[in-house]
Amino acid sequence: MADDSLYARLGGYDAIAAVADSLLARLTADARLGRFWANRGDDGVRREKQFLIDFLCHNAGGPLLYTGRDMATSHRGMGIDEADWAAFRGHLEATLAEFSVPDRETGDVLAFIDGTRADIVER
Ligand code: HEM
Repeated sequence: MADDSLYARLGGYDAIAAVADSLLARLTADARLGRFWANRGDDGVRREKQFLIDFLCHNAGGPLLYTGRDMATSHRGMGIDEADWAAFRGHLEATLAEFSVPDRETGDVLAFIDGTRADIVER
C-alpha cells in the first residue's frame, strides 16, 4: 500500500528539513519577529531547528520521535500576539510556495499549524 501520510507526500525528512531551514531564516531576519531570537546563541537556534523538524515530521506521520516540549509550555511567556502570528503565517506560506508544495499539502500543513495557534498566541 502506498504511504499516503503527509510526511511522505511532502517528500520525507530532507524536504521537511529544507522547509524548516528556510522558514527559520525568514523568521529570524524579520524586523518584527527578530526580537524572539535576539541574543540567542547559534547552537541554541540549531537545537530549536532540530526540534521544529522533529515536531513537524512526527506530526505529519513520519518515523521520528519528538522529544521537545509541548507548544504551550515552550512558547508561554513570550507574549506572541496576533500580529506576530500573522507575520509567522505569511513567512510559512511564502516558504511553502518557495518549495512549490502542492495545494493539497499546503492546505494540510496550514491546517496543522493553525491547530497549534491557541497554544502559542497569548494576546
Ligand atoms: C509567531 C510564532 C512563533 C514564534 C515567535 C516562535 C518562537 C519560538 C522560540 C523563540 C523558540 C525557542 C524557545 C526556547 O529555546 O526556549 C521556539 C521553540 C519552538 N517552537 Fe516556536 N514560535 C512560533 C510558532 C511556532 C509554531 C507554529 C510551531 C509549530 C510548528 C512552533 C514550534 C516550535 C518548537 C517545536 C520549538 C522547540 C520546543 C522546545 O524547545 O522544546 N513554533 N519558538
